[in-house]
Amino acid sequence: MKKILFVTSEAHPLIKTGGLADVSSSLPKALADLGQDVRLILPNYGALKLNNEVHLRSEFPIGSYFVRLLETKLPDSAVTVWLVDCPAYFGMVGNPYVDVFGNAYANNADRFALFCRAVSEVAMNRVELNWKPDIVHCNDWQTGLVPALLSLEYQCPPTIFTIHNMAYQGIFGGLVASILQLPPQLLSQDGLEFHGMISFIKGGIAYADKVTTVSPTYAQEIQTAKFGYGLEGLLTYRNDDLIGIINGIDADWNPEVDSLITQKYAVDSLSEKVQNKTALQIRLNLPVDENIFTLGLISRLVEQKGIDLLLDCLSELLSLPVQIVILGSGDKDFEHRLSQFAAAYPHKMALTLGYNETLAHLIEAGCDAFLMPSRFEPCGLNQMYSQRYGALPIVRNTGGLADTVIDTLPISLANKTATGFIFEEENAGALFETIKRALVLHSIPDTWRQLQINAMTRDFSWTNSAKQYLNLYESIE
Ligand code: ADP
Ligand code: GLC
Repeated sequence: MKKILFVTSEAHPLIKTGGLADVSSSLPKALADLGQDVRLILPNYGALKLNNEVHLRSEFPIGSYFVRLLETKLPDSAVTVWLVDCPAYFGMVGNPYVDVFGNAYANNADRFALFCRAVSEVAMNRVELNWKPDIVHCNDWQTGLVPALLSLEYQCPPTIFTIHNMAYQGIFGGLVASILQLPPQLLSQDGLEFHGMISFIKGGIAYADKVTTVSPTYAQEIQTAKFGYGLEGLLTYRNDDLIGIINGIDADWNPEVDSLITQKYAVDSLSEKVQNKTALQIRLNLPVDENIFTLGLISRLVEQKGIDLLLDCLSELLSLPVQIVILGSGDKDFEHRLSQFAAAYPHKMALTLGYNETLAHLIEAGCDAFLMPSRFEPCGLNQMYSQRYGALPIVRNTGGLADTVIDTLPISLANKTATGFIFEEENAGALFETIKRALVLHSIPDTWRQLQINAMTRDFSWTNSAKQYLNLYESIE
């Protein structure tokens, strides 16, 4: 049994801004199911949704602050969660990283440096927990200083750093180094320094024993200038220690047991899926029509997700016999442009701005197809959820989308492996052509049903991925 300290800045259902939160609860739970002793550590944000008992485990100084370590359990699991409590840095209610205008908090470097320092103390078993991890598994830039700080310690536990998204790096002005009082040994070009600034993600990539990312294709892509954002050289240098492990999906995302949808269904009761379509149409004031091709999209509305590709073909798309259901929030310009379309086509398009877990489940259950035209996608979860729900994904050929969707071609149709639709070029024309390809196949019910069955019976469970992480942990003892 391994003792694993899993370090993250968000975990579902405590706090979530994206897929990192899903992974940070599903993977520890899957590792615990494999018999491992996993402890999750994250900041005690004012916005955490805590429903289990919380108690004080330890108190210790970090710089000029006295940090408290609180203990609770991850809801519906036996996984222990440690919360780093420092109200001055984490006490605000709201998004963990940005203010109401979407601007990063001015003190993010200090906040996550304090978090990383506290984690390092826990990892070194210096805070009276009487528990020293065999592995410290860090995730994304907010945790990047942990491998760097631990590299300075005598007999530190081995570290893994998982990149969920290279587009977010935690880069701060050079002055931050002295404000954070980072040890000078860490500030070289081989360390945290990045063009005269300090890069948190570089701490993880340069100092962790192993670096992982969330799909094999993304592991290759980030070694190129287009996806590496200036760190492709370092990632290529670390090639031998860099591996891609695809995420799984949580057991909650399963139409056979999903209590958030109107009608549960399975492969052998697929005809009942349509009741969710009707419920979705009623809920969103769209005309009720069992046969209309209904496309869903649930996403952060940001450039990564190719929202502009959709916007650029939306008027042509809305001239076809389709309904489009969108749930998301993010970039104000995208929100505005989508709102204009929704207002102009109220019988064909429904837009819900904001975050809504229940509606997300109903969209997966109610739609025929699911749009994910991402410019890049480290892994992506919704294309896997949508396969599980028989809402066939229409995706761009990148990252985890390329690794988890099998394009519908004559051969994959014939051998019953096709599960969705893939397009190559990063433009609206390619997306539109692919949606039309799906629309044509949707009009052939038997073929469509076979595609749904192919998709719904694929195994995206966490067990496989958790075993790969476990093998990796065992390889670096
Ligand atoms: P990313 O982490 O880049 O946002 P992923 O596909 O990995 O992309 O994960 C996104 C997760 O967030 C999924 O679980 C998705 O259902 C959820 N999600 C995104 N936007 C919303 C929203 N507006 N309402 C509900 N769930 C959302
Ligand atoms: C990031 C990526 C997404 C991935 C998620 C979880 O947010 O954008 O592709 O699925 O992390 O690993």
